[in-house]
Amino acid sequence: MAIENVYGPNDNVFVQDHPLIQHKITMLRDKSTGTNEFRKLVEEIAILIGFEALHDLPTEDVEVETPIETCMSPMISGRKIAIVPILRAGLGMVGGITALVPSAKIGHIGMYRDEETHEPHEYYCKLPSPIEERTIVVVDPMLATGGSASDALNLIKERGGKNIKFLCIIAAPEGIKRLHEDHPDVQIYVGHVDRELNSAAYICPGLGDAGDRIFGTK
Ligand code: PRP
Ligand code: URA
Repeated sequence: MAIENVYGPNDNVFVQDHPLIQHKITMLRDKSTGTNEFRKLVEEIAILIGFEALHDLPTEDVEVETPIETCMSPMISGRKIAIVPILRAGLGMVGGITALVPSAKIGHIGMYRDEETHEPHEYYCKLPSPIEERTIVVVDPMLATGGSASDALNLIKERGGKNIKFLCIIAAPEGIKRLHEDHPDVQIYVGHVDRELNSAAYICPGLGDAGDRIFGTK
């Protein structure tokens, strides 16, 4: 899968330019895409981004008996995975990551943005333990100002989380910069970087309010 490291070879920001991801993001953007299709697309894109983001999971050889003979063959080893969606919209990506790693445990972080100040507010945090021993995959389709994601990563780190990846579908340049500066140790995987934020801190051209489009609310 083609991947572009936007800030340089040693940085932790990876933007994916695979045509399947870009095609599906275009369908997501379309305001005539309904809730059912929107949900399916978010999950499919999560699979495609997650596949690449998990490329460095450690494996160990185990013995397996095939119908022909016994051999050694790799399986995922070591640290177990925790998926942590940022509520609400992050929930839409969970099914995509569990399709890849069905045994993953799932935590939840509840965040909402104040409509006036655009500042994030935490309302829930429950993480699987021992969180410090897991590879933690934080998912949220939208990275706008970066405030929600940055605060979510702070919460995870305060509870001992160390090995963290953040996956989003669309990011504003401002959000990537903020998140990367606040958490340079976290690998950030992005489906597409859009032009800018507008005065309401919405991503342009973006796809509107991801939570409302996933859950059919307004
Ligand atoms: C959206 C989105 C992110 C956040 C991004 O959630 O899912 O969590 O905004 O914005 P930021 O980068 O400027 O913090 P929202 O607050 O709308 O909540 P919702 O998912 O419950 O709709
Ligand atoms: N949250 C969204 O759902 N969309 C945006 O454009 C910005 C934040």
